[in-house]
Amino acid sequence: MALERAVDILKYADEQKKCVIGFDAFDYNSVKWIIDTAEEEQIPVIMMIYPGDRTLIPLSTFAAITKDLAKKVKVPVALMLDHGPNFDTVMEAVRGGFTSMMIDTSHLDFEENVRQTAEVVKTCHGLGIDVEGELGHVGIASRESDYADADGYTKVADALEFIERTGVDSLAIAIGTAHGAYVSKPHLDLTRLDEINRATDIPLVLHGGTGVPEDQLKAAFGLGINKLNYATGYKLKSFDVAKELVERGEIRPRLSDLLMAMNQPMKDFVRGIMRMAWPK
Ligand code: 13P
Repeated sequence: MALERAVDILKYADEQKKCVIGFDAFDYNSVKWIIDTAEEEQIPVIMMIYPGDRTLIPLSTFAAITKDLAKKVKVPVALMLDHGPNFDTVMEAVRGGFTSMMIDTSHLDFEENVRQTAEVVKTCHGLGIDVEGELGHVGIASRESDYADADGYTKVADALEFIERTGVDSLAIAIGTAHGAYVSKPHLDLTRLDEINRATDIPLVLHGGTGVPEDQLKAAFGLGINKLNYATGYKLKSFDVAKELVERGEIRPRLSDLLMAMNQPMKDFVRGIMRMAWPK
């Protein structure tokens, strides 16, 4: 199938009361493991890349690979730039063929976040591209205060104003998660999530999926989270699987053989996360 817009997959997820996973990938194999699993499970998926991983693979190459693999399957696949830091990087992704964007200027003050996000939305909407924004900065999991300090969480009134003034199609919110490996157990502010969900009418996104207890994630899916971003766990798993396969010594010492041997364990890992968020 041709690529879908992320927002259309999110609206479908919302109707189904389910959550789609936005996976950050970084090369051909890491994209293929995810799209193949999505097809086997018939669970829609959003493929994403961090701008920082452009040193590994140009955005246009990542887009071409994802488009080609999506064309060969029936399940809906979207392609989104994750954490676009500014207008220029988003435009680079537009030229590269991305069909959905995230602009993340959440570290800036409210007015500047509104201004830069609205500018991206205006241009992208003119091109038929949907945009995810972020309000209430989702920080780094190695700094406990980034996720445990409720002062930084998204406020209901701010979310309403931000959506109205920027025109974003989906919104990433801060309710107690952060990116990377948590240094203590996170506790999601589900009451706040419920309030934001009741007050707004666009799909809500949760970043920092790795390491959040499953019961909390499932509760969040029931309260309006339609997209869960997942990166660190996938990257760690690919390293661990490769290490284990090498240490077992059963494969020929060739990178090509290692990548082939990683196929099944990586797909099984992806399957577990997809099924948790999109139960049959
Ligand atoms: P994790 O790396 O914690 O899974 O977070 C991913 C993320 O939110 C990407 O936008």
